[in-house]
Amino acid sequence: MIREVLKMGDPRLMRSAERVEDFDSTALDALVADMWDTVRAVSGGGLAAPQIGVGLRVVVVGMGRNPRYPHAPPIPPMMLVNPIITPTDDILESDWEGCLSVPGLRAMVPRYRSIHVEAQDQKGAQLSFDASGFHARVLQHECDHLLGRLFPSRIDDFTTFGFVEQLFPGSGIPS
Ligand code: NI
Repeated sequence: MIREVLKMGDPRLMRSAERVEDFDSTALDALVADMWDTVRAVSGGGLAAPQIGVGLRVVVVGMGRNPRYPHAPPIPPMMLVNPIITPTDDILESDWEGCLSVPGLRAMVPRYRSIHVEAQDQKGAQLSFDASGFHARVLQHECDHLLGRLFPSRIDDFTTFGFVEQLFPGSGIPS
């Protein structure tokens, strides 16, 4: 079921999410199904459970060619429960970022270039992998939602913060 995506200013986006303790449950399955339905319906690159008002540590990421990020490489579809991100070096890269909860706006946001991720799947099995570049960026963005943080709080150069139509005139990029 496609769910409403909460927008910046909603207090449910500002809270730390709780760890998932019950795996292989119909409630978790339904949450994950709703998250995929919602992120696909709006061409998002990822979605975190707090964005649909559920305060649990669950994220989905993944996209093919995406009109919201025309220059971004595809990233593999993945659902993560209780993810923990550790940077694997201290190099930060800045690139454009947006958020379904901050519609119409983009900014350059610094993120770690390379990360290690520990998480669980829907049945509670442990996952462990490395990611870099745009894939790592999306994972860091989604995991920030689990801490109650949205990308504007990560901007270091506010001259890059603006509306899509003004930043990229005539590009046709949807908000
Ligand atoms: Ni977001």
